[in-house]
Amino acid sequence: PPGRAEVPVQVALHPLRDGVPTGGGALVLLEGVDVSAARAAAAEHRAMEARLVAAQRYESLGALVGGIAHEFNNLLAAIVGNLGLALQELPPGSPALESLREADTGARRAAERVKQMLAYAGKTRSELRPLNTLARLRDAVELVRPLVPPLATLHVDLPAHLPPVAGDPTQLTQVIVGLVSNAIEALRDAHGTVTVRAHEAELRGDARPGQHAGAPLLEPGRYVAIEVGDDGTGMTPEVRARIFDPFFSTKFMGRGLGLSAALGIVRAHGGTIDVESEPGSGTTMTVLLPALPIATPVEPPPAPATGPANGRHPEPTGLVVVADDEPAVRSIAQRLLRRYGYESLAAADGREALDLVLAHDRDVALLLLDMTMPRMGGLETLAELRRLDIRIPVLLSSGFSEEEIGPHLPADLRGAVGFVQKPYTPVELVAAIRRIVGIGAAS
Ligand SMILES: Nc1ncnc2c1ncn2[C@@H]1O[C@H](COP(=O)(O)OP(=O)(O)OP(=O)(O)O)[C@@H](O)[C@H]1O
Ligand SMILES: [Mg+2]
Repeated sequence: PPGRAEVPVQVALHPLRDGVPTGGGALVLLEGVDVSAARAAAAEHRAMEARLVAAQRYESLGALVGGIAHEFNNLLAAIVGNLGLALQELPPGSPALESLREADTGARRAAERVKQMLAYAGKTRSELRPLNTLARLRDAVELVRPLVPPLATLHVDLPAHLPPVAGDPTQLTQVIVGLVSNAIEALRDAHGTVTVRAHEAELRGDARPGQHAGAPLLEPGRYVAIEVGDDGTGMTPEVRARIFDPFFSTKFMGRGLGLSAALGIVRAHGGTIDVESEPGSGTTMTVLLPALPIATPVEPPPAPATGPANGRHPEPTGLVVVADDEPAVRSIAQRLLRRYGYESLAAADGREALDLVLAHDRDVALLLLDMTMPRMGGLETLAELRRLDIRIPVLLSSGFSEEEIGPHLPADLRGAVGFVQKPYTPVELVAAIRRIVGIGAAS
């Protein structure tokens, strides 16, 4: 009945042998004991044990994965470094170039994995500094927005104010991108809604977020909670129990390092990740990070975004000319661009690219220019564009890093062209395009 609570009761029946018989029947004493307190204590004990097991598991897996990753990181540094040198030293047209480039691409991919493994083991260097949480979140959301399939909705619900957190901006962005990617990948038939929310949370002493993550109990206090939710497939308890294990993946193309890296990063930030999931109805992952006092001075606010703050980006307009001697790279770039609404034309070298730019003149919004191409490479093409006084935004792409390329650029071009390192992910390419097109529009 309303107003009454059910209480678990342990019942014992005691026959009263020496009791006074009444009407020929035996007397029995019925004893009921309220065991709710004992039950709660047992549940708490089980939870503590589970957390301990999870923590030990994390400890040993982390040591194993971290040790392997550390070893391979050093070996890969030597491989990547030497491949880079060899690629620079070989004469153009050398038959070995192709193989070396592929080896280089593979080695870089391997390095990326190793970085995630190191993050899981908490062995990456995090430079924690007070961050403007809201600004960081907005940036991360803009990075993932292009990944949302056309029929799905990204719902962003951020408060007007959030306390700062002590964090490494790049790593926290990686966490959000990983969670949102998972949410998108969990949508059924690419339909549905992914929600990013954030709020300040007060953690009470008896709250136990992140039980399954093997994370240490969080101190009671103020936290920033960042939630990434989806109404996708959800997870069975079996899957859910393993999602933070490195290399655990249920996806065909999955690597199973996204969440393990995210957890390692969040732990290194003094936080945890909480999981709620229901098979068939969706998942919500909540990142909890200790909040700094509101008055903590943070990094200077980033330059105002070029797009509308919370709406969709304006539809891209114009044509992108993709210049790369590698047909596979051209075709991938064109497919990526099409997915984000850009039209594109392909050129196999700088000469062809220039011809296309000249032919389509006003319509060209951007030139995506590979550095090393036969006939006319990226730098020569840039010089030729300048000579013809054609001023269009140029995004250089190369297997080398920006630091390696920078010194080879003519001084007046440094900073004037954008840069994207191959192999790029869709997000990196689109982010680089937005940066450079934004710059082009502003100047
Ligand atoms: N939002 C979600 N909904 C349903 N399942 C999820 C969700 N997020 C994670 N998972 C499950 O957790 C597993 C591990 O996720 P994780 O991000 O670590 O690896 P992955 O996405 O498979 O590969 P990648 O290394 O490319 O991220 C996934 O394969 C999936 O089974
Ligand atoms: Mg993932």
